Amino acid sequence: MQAYQLQPGASFQTLVRQDLPHRALQPHEVRVRIGAAGLNFRDLMVANGSYPTGSSDPMVPLGDAAGTVIETGAAVQRFKVGDRVVNTYFPGWVDGRPTPANTAGSYGVTLPGVLADEAVFDEQALAATPSHLDDVEAATIACAGITAWNALFVEGGLQPGGSALMLGTGGVSIWALQLAKAAGARTFITSSDDGKLARARELGAQETINYRTHPEWQQEVLARTQGDGVDLVVEVGGNGTLARSLAASRMGGRIALVGGVSGFSSELNLLSVIGGARRLAGIYVGSRRMFEDLLRFVSLHQLRPVVDRVYGFGDAADAYARIEGGGHFGKVVVDVTRR
Ligand SMILES: NC(=O)c1ccc[n+]([C@@H]2O[C@H](COP(=O)([O-])OP(=O)(O)OC[C@H]3O[C@@H](n4cnc5c(N)ncnc54)[C@H](OP(=O)(O)O)[C@@H]3O)[C@@H](O)[C@H]2O)c1
Repeated sequence: MQAYQLQPGASFQTLVRQDLPHRALQPHEVRVRIGAAGLNFRDLMVANGSYPTGSSDPMVPLGDAAGTVIETGAAVQRFKVGDRVVNTYFPGWVDGRPTPANTAGSYGVTLPGVLADEAVFDEQALAATPSHLDDVEAATIACAGITAWNALFVEGGLQPGGSALMLGTGGVSIWALQLAKAAGARTFITSSDDGKLARARELGAQETINYRTHPEWQQEVLARTQGDGVDLVVEVGGNGTLARSLAASRMGGRIALVGGVSGFSSELNLLSVIGGARRLAGIYVGSRRMFEDLLRFVSLHQLRPVVDRVYGFGDAADAYARIEGGGHFGKVVVDVTRR
């Protein structure tokens, strides 16, 4: 099989395309011909060494795949050859609460990744691809889609008619915008770029704010909610945004703590949490149950994820550079079938 390997911590420029051995399947494993592999901010962190991989050995990167089953182990029951499938983020977290054990393994971090023309998954780590999506679209779901779903509807507790604020127009935020909109929420989104905000309005965002021209953007959110603030913030900014996200949320509101594009450590004024009776919930992607709930919702609403750019297999390093440059809107994907 053809796969890329990179040296964690030594930049995505260390990506090397290689022939790797084809291993035999265990009884509950499924071999998938990969159609497309999606990138996340996390993959940049793995490449530059700011994400713990547990090993510094060369590894196959990326964790979000969509493809077609080409072989099944002797005991596989959930899939057959020819089925179109997408993988979940944590193969061990099927349902219930997260534990250190069921979140220990994830593809492209502690398990071999999917930037390859085929990959092996436990059958419990796969779900059927929604039939209206092609593989490029479906390869956006495993990390950003599940995270957005968990942040909005599981830990975030967003109700129809409620209000949600998304920060920036990257993969998680655009997924969250599409899902919140389809669920009937009032949607707010920020960006550094007016062109991106115009695109967000085309997707149905009702309230858009440029955080460069309005550095005190939380005041804009308060002004547009009669001083109350929003029910929920999907917090991907971290150090540079958390205090403003708290100020932009209503009393008793929730902050789904997802990421730290501006830094992962932060000083927090506890009084803004305690005195505002607000709840902070750490989000760690999600379980297969959340994934399947999300896939059902995506099929019901015929949602199509926003794909910013698609790169051929030979141009995988350019896909990383696109994420690093921050010019993207939504998801960046490698079409593995385009050589
Ligand atoms: N906890 C989890 O389970 C989980 C899962 C997925 C991702 N994450 C984390 O969530 C974060 C986002 O991931 P992603 O894959 O969606 O990233 P991404 O696609 O690379 O998106 C990054 C976007 O963030 C925006 N941004 C940058 N600096 C900002 C700032 N100071 N204030 C507001 N927005 C800012 C930019 O949007 P504009 O260009 O529009 O300004 C940028 O395009 C990362 O920290 C990632 O590690 C966590």
